[in-house]
Amino acid sequence: MRDLQNRTALVTGASRGLGVYIARALAAEGMNLILVARSAEGLERVADELRATGCKVQCIPTDLADREAVQVLAEQAEAESDGVDVLVNNAGAEYAMPFDQIPVERLDEAVEVNLRAPMVLARLLLPKMIARGRGHIVNISAANGLFGTPYSEPLCATKHGMVGLSRGLRATAKSEGYPVGCSAICSGFVTESGMYDDLSQEFGIRAPWTLGTSRPESVARAVVRAVKRDLPEVFVNPIPLRPVAVLAALLPRLTTWLVLRLGVAKVFGPVAKTRAAASSAGES
Ligand SMILES: NC(=O)c1ccc[n+]([C@@H]2O[C@H](COP(=O)([O-])OP(=O)(O)OC[C@H]3O[C@@H](n4cnc5c(N)ncnc54)[C@H](OP(=O)(O)O)[C@@H]3O)[C@@H](O)[C@H]2O)c1
Repeated sequence: MRDLQNRTALVTGASRGLGVYIARALAAEGMNLILVARSAEGLERVADELRATGCKVQCIPTDLADREAVQVLAEQAEAESDGVDVLVNNAGAEYAMPFDQIPVERLDEAVEVNLRAPMVLARLLLPKMIARGRGHIVNISAANGLFGTPYSEPLCATKHGMVGLSRGLRATAKSEGYPVGCSAICSGFVTESGMYDDLSQEFGIRAPWTLGTSRPESVARAVVRAVKRDLPEVFVNPIPLRPVAVLAALLPRLTTWLVLRLGVAKVFGPVAKTRAAASSAGES
């Protein structure tokens, strides 16, 4: 979709973190916005900022782990706008813990929020996009949607799922000639805002210098670029991630070795171990 002016975008996870930057970037393109997250207060704060720039914004506070609420969200978003033209599946949560100690309910939640809700929203909104003759779905995946990182199995599994969902949707759209696009955004660590920044502040961890970090504006720009140019996959990281993704497909054993040598375990490992220790101290 080249012209985004006066079109409507639904952005999940827009109460804080990267979603705020994505919402700002889409607003700057002249889009109307539907902001979604659990925190009504967080959404209204972002909405107030965007309304002050002349953007038309609606907030729909929703828990994406609630299946019925996801259905209602899709219906309400369509009914109360001229139709959702761009869906940005951005909301997500991290579950850095030793895998054998993660409560099973947390695994269910990871799948619901990080994968099922995006898939259901796409399923419910896509037919309307096709009927209107325009639309784009952006799935915010991550670098660990392309290769495995230690102590982050739920994130790796769901982010790989987001890449798979995007590839599947795109293949069907191309095969059927649908007037819709679909993109996955795969970013490495992002500073200044978002979940990695929160972990850095809480646990004092640092992304390895070998991988580097990006700014949230880069992710937001990648989303706009993906929609306007109908890009299949956009990688956001100071060192190129595409070769690592290719390597992961060709030589998975070497890729695991490389990822560990790059020091990725030093990011999620200490978080996972500290949380596990805190959780067993709480149980005893
Ligand atoms: N930050 C990074 O370094 C990084 C790197 C690669 C990919 N990503 C991806 O980028 C996306 C955004 O992450 P972020 O860093 O901005 O994370 P964040 O700061 O933790 O923000 C997560 C957003 O998702 C919303 N959310 C979480 N659980 C939800 C639920 N059950 N229902 C509805 N909304 C929910 C949160 O809002 P409420 O709490 O108000 O519900 C918040 O708006 C995620 O998909 C993440 O995996 C981030």
